[in-house]
Amino acid sequence: MKLGSENHKELFCRSFIDSHLKFEPAELPWPTLDDVGLERLRGIPFWREALRTERIAGAMVNTFAQTIDDPLLQEAIALQGMEETRHGRLIEFLIHHYGIQIDPIPEPVLPKSLKTAFLDFGFGECLDSFLAFGIFKIARQASYFPEPLFNIFDHVLDEEARHIMFFINWVTYEQIHQEHKGNWLRGANALWHYGRAFQDKIKAFTGSVEDEQEGFTATGASNFMDDLTPELFLSTCLEENVRRMSAFDQQLLQPQLIPRLATIALRFFKLTSRRQSSPTTQFSKP
Ligand SMILES: [Fe+2]
Ligand SMILES: [Fe+2]
Repeated sequence: MKLGSENHKELFCRSFIDSHLKFEPAELPWPTLDDVGLERLRGIPFWREALRTERIAGAMVNTFAQTIDDPLLQEAIALQGMEETRHGRLIEFLIHHYGIQIDPIPEPVLPKSLKTAFLDFGFGECLDSFLAFGIFKIARQASYFPEPLFNIFDHVLDEEARHIMFFINWVTYEQIHQEHKGNWLRGANALWHYGRAFQDKIKAFTGSVEDEQEGFTATGASNFMDDLTPELFLSTCLEENVRRMSAFDQQLLQPQLIPRLATIALRFFKLTSRRQSSPTTQFSKP
């Protein structure tokens, strides 16, 4: 299969559309939480940020879909918009169901350039999902919540995995098909958008985003494990990324830059911790 071909488009759109699942957040089997579970859920810092992000995403992706001429691409992008809107409703349901207190969220404002917003959002999702895969596994292994709650969010993360798979293939198809850009430009473009995604995350971490003082997904990782090290976190993200991505047709492109950067960072952390733990040279008089 040639990237940018009609076959490529059919494969990444059809596999996305055909793997869509119908469900309503309010009808899911939400478990009853005991006091410890409720306290833990209410103590997670990112519910407001997650709700805000999903609401903006739903509105932006739905509006962007309406600007797409190709019927199959439009159907797939509109479906992603529907799923993002449903993620927003799912988090909203969770917040109300479990009595989580959050400050009100302003109505989403659509950006001027929808395509740039969709590109920024897509690369941002590649970063967020990679981190979320690891955080989810760590929390699940620690049985931080009852398993039925993890089952619900497992499905949400599968949807995010489908979104980033669709996005990476769509962005490549677009660039080959419409702009005739070469590989070098494609890589540079991705780096530029990833750079913006990183900037957004750093702002969210430091609370310098307007109307945003809560942490980004990764800040929640340490909630689930006391002695979480960067090595364990990154290696879990990498393992989970491989596992979730193995569910897709292997002819399709997969997000690669974030896992590669994480692999480099993991090597660095391993090397540093080995140096720190190796015994210091003992000098003694002859
Ligand atoms: Fe989402
Ligand atoms: Fe998504």
